[in-house]
Amino acid sequence: MNSNVLDSTFLNSWFRVAISQELPAKKVIPLRYFGKDFVLFRAENGTPYLLDAHCPHMGAHLGYTGTVKDETIRCPYHGWLWSGRGHCVNVPYTNKQPKIQIKSYPVREVNGLILMYYHGQGKSPDWEIPELPEYNSSQWTPLRLVRRWKARTNLKNYLDNSIDVAHLSQLHSQTFRAAKTESIKVDGPVLTHTMSQKYNLSSLAGGKIIPEDGSVTTTYYGPGYDVSFYWWAKGIIELGLLQIFTGTPIDKDYLDIQIFFSVKKSLPPPLNLILAAIAKRDTAMTFEQDIPILENKIYLTHPPLYEGDGPILQTRRWASQFYEVQAGTEAVSAPVIGDNNNR
Ligand code: FES
Ligand SMILES: [Fe+2]
Repeated sequence: MNSNVLDSTFLNSWFRVAISQELPAKKVIPLRYFGKDFVLFRAENGTPYLLDAHCPHMGAHLGYTGTVKDETIRCPYHGWLWSGRGHCVNVPYTNKQPKIQIKSYPVREVNGLILMYYHGQGKSPDWEIPELPEYNSSQWTPLRLVRRWKARTNLKNYLDNSIDVAHLSQLHSQTFRAAKTESIKVDGPVLTHTMSQKYNLSSLAGGKIIPEDGSVTTTYYGPGYDVSFYWWAKGIIELGLLQIFTGTPIDKDYLDIQIFFSVKKSLPPPLNLILAAIAKRDTAMTFEQDIPILENKIYLTHPPLYEGDGPILQTRRWASQFYEVQAGTEAVSAPVIGDNNNR
């Protein structure tokens, strides 16, 4: 089998594989994503690298007791040194340098997260996830993990759920009273969805801090990484919440979901902290309600949809570009009920 060919079951995109803080210099982390074993390490100069886990010499897993030496990782078994690009650069007991290689993967460090590019045919990325000006801004609280879930689901269901407007006021009625798509825009690998929302305030500080009306713009950079900006009473109080949702397939059955958040420091310091705590609690509680749905639902290729369901079909069509299959062979059409502009 061509070692460049991975499993095309998974969508081709950038995916979060670690949080920057989890990987200080010289740290080695074993990872399992996309049904494969990897080793992630940070070289002494600070560069993160991701390689297939198993040493091509005798098969040891570099992630378990492998060590970083300068810009290389040392296999714990016989001490062979491997560069971050996967080349063997030293065998300690011979002057020969074998011309064998471990597969390496494109890695970026953006907005406090370490991302890998996964492609079933081993192609290189032709787009990037941008830096957010809010990350490391003194106007925003530091980006923090809300929670992580290992959920029995896949990216298709995860993405459907993310763009699903109607479930907000039904499944998450403690937070949302109403939600409506205002716009959706597709630009290559980037999809931007804006919703107006009305909030139920029982879970949000009893209405004392957060107004009832707001809007959220979510920008999807591929199917596994999206950034949401929530604004409440924009132009008046300017309360803002930033969320990054990331979903990385562990294998065909499980998804590693991690949510990160930051709030705009538009209030005096103690209130900012209270707002951040509320936002964190509410985000975790709300997504926790999605988990039993995601873990037990099936994926319908032709769901009957009303306009209020949200732009599920457009999003599926957009997501089809991340499969190896030609766009159009993925079944994305469905009966639509009522006067629907959802297509
Ligand atoms: S198995 Fe890695 S050096 Fe031998
Ligand atoms: Fe939800």
